[in-house]
Amino acid sequence: MADVVVEPVRQGLNGDITIPGDKSISHRAVMFGAVANGRTTIEGFLPGEDCISTISCFKKLGVAIDHEQDRVTVDGNGWDGLQEPVEILDVGNSGTTTRLMLGVLAARPFHSVIIGDQSIAKRPMSRVTVPLRDMGASIDGRAEGNLTPLSIRGGNTKGISYTSKVASAQVKSAILLAGIQSEGITSVHEPFISRDHTERMLEAFGVEVERDGNTVSVRGKQELTGRHIVIPGDISSAAFFLVAGAIVPNSNITLRNVGMNPTRTGIIDVLLAMGADLTLSNQQVLNGEPVADLTIATSSLKAIEIGGELIPRLIDEIPVIAVLATQASGKTVIKDAEELKVKETNRIDTVVSELKKIGASIEATEDGMIINGTGCLQGAHVQSFGDHRIGMAMAVAACVSDQPVTIAESEAIAVSYPTFFTDLNTLKSL
Ligand code: S3P
Repeated sequence: MADVVVEPVRQGLNGDITIPGDKSISHRAVMFGAVANGRTTIEGFLPGEDCISTISCFKKLGVAIDHEQDRVTVDGNGWDGLQEPVEILDVGNSGTTTRLMLGVLAARPFHSVIIGDQSIAKRPMSRVTVPLRDMGASIDGRAEGNLTPLSIRGGNTKGISYTSKVASAQVKSAILLAGIQSEGITSVHEPFISRDHTERMLEAFGVEVERDGNTVSVRGKQELTGRHIVIPGDISSAAFFLVAGAIVPNSNITLRNVGMNPTRTGIIDVLLAMGADLTLSNQQVLNGEPVADLTIATSSLKAIEIGGELIPRLIDEIPVIAVLATQASGKTVIKDAEELKVKETNRIDTVVSELKKIGASIEATEDGMIINGTGCLQGAHVQSFGDHRIGMAMAVAACVSDQPVTIAESEAIAVSYPTFFTDLNTLKSL
């Protein structure tokens, strides 16, 4: 359980770094490669613990996967190439691995068992297991199939027309992955559009996907064809340095290779609305995903209200947006974000309790939080609670506090950004 001490940054953050690969896209590249026919080669893969869990699960399902740092080769043999695993599939801390793999396994004619860590054991799976059972899969687990360990016997699934109560890419993706293996048409309707990496990447692998407003449909019995994938940097990782660059005095930093998929750029909208000095350059499209370099400098910020359809576009960035709000003049209100309660931790509770410890004026609400931007943060001993994004948000807060901040269980950061402190030190040293 590693404590890390993060010092306030006095000289500013300067220079440029290349943001590591997108976590959501890395998971999908491995999974889709594993069920495709032929070889898939991946460049820019995120070697974070979550994505390594996906590789390890698909190896246990009999797929040949070769992984070295940000390069991965996957030799898929189609849907039927997956084999009944001898071992339990351990997803570690990864909700994306759990839910998307459930969608794959729901239509495979064999038995498998999924477990994860203590955080995964608390996260609701019925949002996925209920529609997958409706499609015909047999899934059981604790709390009537809501909690891991889960046991799956798939096969003979039929298409479904499903309306999800939550805007969740994991729910949408799981149902679509079962749907393209099943008889008939599968449609998923969601209240707001969630990240659409599954739809984009399925198309890249040769699957026909139909989109109509907030509804996505696929025809059953479709095969994927292996290909080369280049993964852009993760805007959710860039977000920590976007906020740090905006709030640390005397800063001017450039973040290269950041994925700019419009379903993920809520953080950009928020920074611009708050008055941040942010510019985009080198905009291009990589495998159907837009990418850009982002330059941000110390900014004078004003509070805003964040809610509605913006929430799914920045859900993972809310911990660090709360830090940003502590440095903005006025009252920032974050609402419609109940989903924060079922992330790696209850992020309404963990953000509020830990930011309070370092002196922020912040209160939890039923569906979000309210932050008064006082600009003053102090040294303290805080917890990550094993949640990577809480750990990194606290490290960014430490950069503008008056005394060092000690972060417990900082090793959790390796889940999504193993080189976070190396990159922070690079920006400090220039
Ligand atoms: C993800 C979807 C989001 C996000 C998570 C990654 C994905 O979760 O919070 O970090 O890769 O599909 P939900 O689908 O639960 O909203």
